[in-house]
Amino acid sequence: MRAQVGIIGAGPAGLMLALLLRRRGIDAVIVENRSRSYVEQRVRAGLLEQWVSDLLVETGVGARLTREAMFHDGIHLAFGGKSHHVDFRKLTGKGVTVYGQQEVVKDLIARLTDDGVPILFEVEDVAVHDLDGDMPRISFRKNGEPGEIACDFIGGCDGFHGVCRPSIPAGLLTTYEREYPFGWLGILTESPPPADELIYAYHERGFALYSMRSATVSRLYVQVDHGEEVERWSDARVWEELHLRLGGVRSLAEGRVLQKSITPMRSFVTEPMRHGRLFLAGDSAHIVPPTGAKGLNLAVADVVVLARAITAFYTAGRSDLLDAYSATCLDRIWKGQRFSWWMTQMLHRFPDGSAFDRRRQLAELAYVTSSTAAATTLAENYAGLPMTW
Ligand code: APR
Ligand code: PHB
Repeated sequence: MRAQVGIIGAGPAGLMLALLLRRRGIDAVIVENRSRSYVEQRVRAGLLEQWVSDLLVETGVGARLTREAMFHDGIHLAFGGKSHHVDFRKLTGKGVTVYGQQEVVKDLIARLTDDGVPILFEVEDVAVHDLDGDMPRISFRKNGEPGEIACDFIGGCDGFHGVCRPSIPAGLLTTYEREYPFGWLGILTESPPPADELIYAYHERGFALYSMRSATVSRLYVQVDHGEEVERWSDARVWEELHLRLGGVRSLAEGRVLQKSITPMRSFVTEPMRHGRLFLAGDSAHIVPPTGAKGLNLAVADVVVLARAITAFYTAGRSDLLDAYSATCLDRIWKGQRFSWWMTQMLHRFPDGSAFDRRRQLAELAYVTSSTAAATTLAENYAGLPMTW
């Protein structure tokens, strides 16, 4: 097979890259090692910065989002037995959209399939070759048969555990990493959320987050110990912690638990995000802890930059935007890293934290919820920093 751009991974980064290229008349092929139903069912976070939901609408994949998503103007921060509203709309003029990541994935796959963009699911043994030359290749097996895509560029959109990042000689990459001494146990439940907007709760037993997917389905998280096993958390135990950590600020209805899983918490960045004709985008190059809700948003920002750079190459023979790709993306990524770390350190109970640390966290929360200047820094980062490029 021949394509201008070969993309590895049918997550939000790979799918959005294919759509943006398609709209500029550049053809792409996607290879994905999981099945279509697997990627469409995978439960992930679901919070879009304002510009991301606007982009989905502009690029023609926003019809269902416009009908079904929940548009929020801010969040609640709960601590010390009280809830405080941070009004993003008032502070920055922007809001956020709650729409499950797998819904974005479904909408993108449907659209690309309609447009005839090939997505090869359930491929095995994916590998990349000749990254230093003008015609890199992707090899794979499908239904036991070998296959190959010769292309001009490869989009390495295969997530944190993919093959693209490890294909770059390790000595050429610098990685920055921080592991947190806790994880999040998340449940998806058939129960109404306790508030109209998300509640981020600081509690002496640990952090909890009350999010949602609709008026009747909630997505709820509790901080658990690092390396904790999901089997140790019965539904009853999860509900008990959720009630306790809400600290009496709202009542919480229980319901049938549809899904339960544990997410580790990690900050990770690899630099540069390019090697020859291979460009890393999304989780293959960087991971944020979910407290700032930035994972999907940073992935989409990367592919906007990449699609623009590839387009300039084909339409104007320019390589400067490709050369600037890594630095352009990393500027936003590190701001997203900083914000995600800041939200995480402010809201979680650290196992080695002292009484001093806890008083400092409470002072920080009190400051953020009482000072317009402090609340605005949270709001502008959460709702999405301006796209300056
Ligand atoms: N070959 C082909 N596909 C692969 C391979 C491989 N060797 N390894 C992984 N993949 C696929 C995965 O199955 C997945 O569908 O690559 C895709 C990567 O998608 P995501 O993990 O969703 O990553 P990305 O598209 O960068 O989106 C980032 O995902 O993890 C969340 O919170 C994160 O919201 C962020 C978003
Ligand atoms: C979610 O709805 O799954 C969600 C929302 C906000 C976050 C993390 C996860 O910070």
